[in-house]
Amino acid sequence: MVEGSRFYADRMKNVKASDIREILKLTEGRDVISLAGGLPDPRVFPREELVDIMRAIVEESLESALQYSPTKGATPFRETLRGFLSDNGVRVRSSDDIIVTTGSQQSLFLAAQVLVGPGDVVVVEEPGYLAAINVFNYAQARMVGARVDEHGMDPEVVEEKVKRLKGEGRKVKLVYANPTSQNPTGSTMTLERRKHLLEIASRYDLLIIEDDPYSFFTFEEDKPPYLKTLDTEGRVIYTSTFSKILMPGVRLGWTLADETIVLGMESLKQMVDLHSATLSQYIAMESIKRGIVASTIDRARAIYREKRDALIETLEEELAGLATWTRPIGGFFTMVELHPSINARKLLVEAIERKGVAFVPGDSFYVEEKKMNTMRLSYSFPPAEVIRVGARRLAELVKEKTPPG
Ligand SMILES: Cc1ncc(COP(=O)(O)O)c(C=O)c1O
Repeated sequence: MVEGSRFYADRMKNVKASDIREILKLTEGRDVISLAGGLPDPRVFPREELVDIMRAIVEESLESALQYSPTKGATPFRETLRGFLSDNGVRVRSSDDIIVTTGSQQSLFLAAQVLVGPGDVVVVEEPGYLAAINVFNYAQARMVGARVDEHGMDPEVVEEKVKRLKGEGRKVKLVYANPTSQNPTGSTMTLERRKHLLEIASRYDLLIIEDDPYSFFTFEEDKPPYLKTLDTEGRVIYTSTFSKILMPGVRLGWTLADETIVLGMESLKQMVDLHSATLSQYIAMESIKRGIVASTIDRARAIYREKRDALIETLEEELAGLATWTRPIGGFFTMVELHPSINARKLLVEAIERKGVAFVPGDSFYVEEKKMNTMRLSYSFPPAEVIRVGARRLAELVKEKTPPG
């Protein structure tokens, strides 16, 4: 038989298979509490309302919903989305345009392919969202990391690296950030840091991707304004998604950016899939118009807040003084930093085999200095009681491995 991979194009060398997936295979056939993946809780999905929406589409707009539609997205949907963004505090500039994509993952892919060429420098959060790192890797970017702490990405580090690389004659183009309820750390960038980052972008002529899947259902009243809203120069490429505020199965995301950037993404998208599913766009449009996205957001906020509390309270009860973590104001994740002598990859194997708990070792999320003693814990999927049990079992193992003193 022919080995198909012999025929791969050279660019496939830039596609990295996930080694974590290999470790997580150990969970197969076992009764494991997973704090690993970031699946939404199905209780958030608007199941009952969906039947009414589908009926309304069949009765009122079936012809359009079943037809091909513009690459940028069905016009009435893009208008509805624009209104949704304005209502939620995301400023739409007069030079901005919107493109609807197949999940925000596609937004990231298209933006990277439009903007980043071999050797171009992209500053990413360290640690940062793995699938974005993969996207920039595929674009053959030279990635540098800017440390994330409990206040988000540190602009001082961004500036230091940008300055140095520009000095070396490198083309530094882009900063990628997930500033609110970050994946993987759960931290949120402060207002001061947001302003500072925008100043740096202006000073060094950079674009910023603001990847924002989690901001709509934050748990506290107070959240800093969007980078997109603070941006006065059109440097922010804002991407978000219906995955967490409706359902991931609808596979819809979008980018709001300067119209010339959207135009580039549109030309590329035409080659990729012509357009995102029209039927999904009608479902999302009706969901916004009927207040179903708003009620899904309310449900998401209540459900994930309870689960965040379950995880953070258990960590506080069990691991205070032995490890550190962020208290997320939204999203699905926190990252725990363990004693430097603990290797979280090794810990994962034991956690699965001896304790029946899984997580994602944090080192996968770093592009420069990998911290082997970190683990990403997700609270999105298991019920709150199960999260408590899982976190307690994991804490037992951590206590066992933490050297005294
Ligand atoms: C930070 C971040 N960006 C983008 C995505 C992609 O989401 P989707 O393609 O479902 O919109 C995710 C998914 O979990 C994410 O965590």
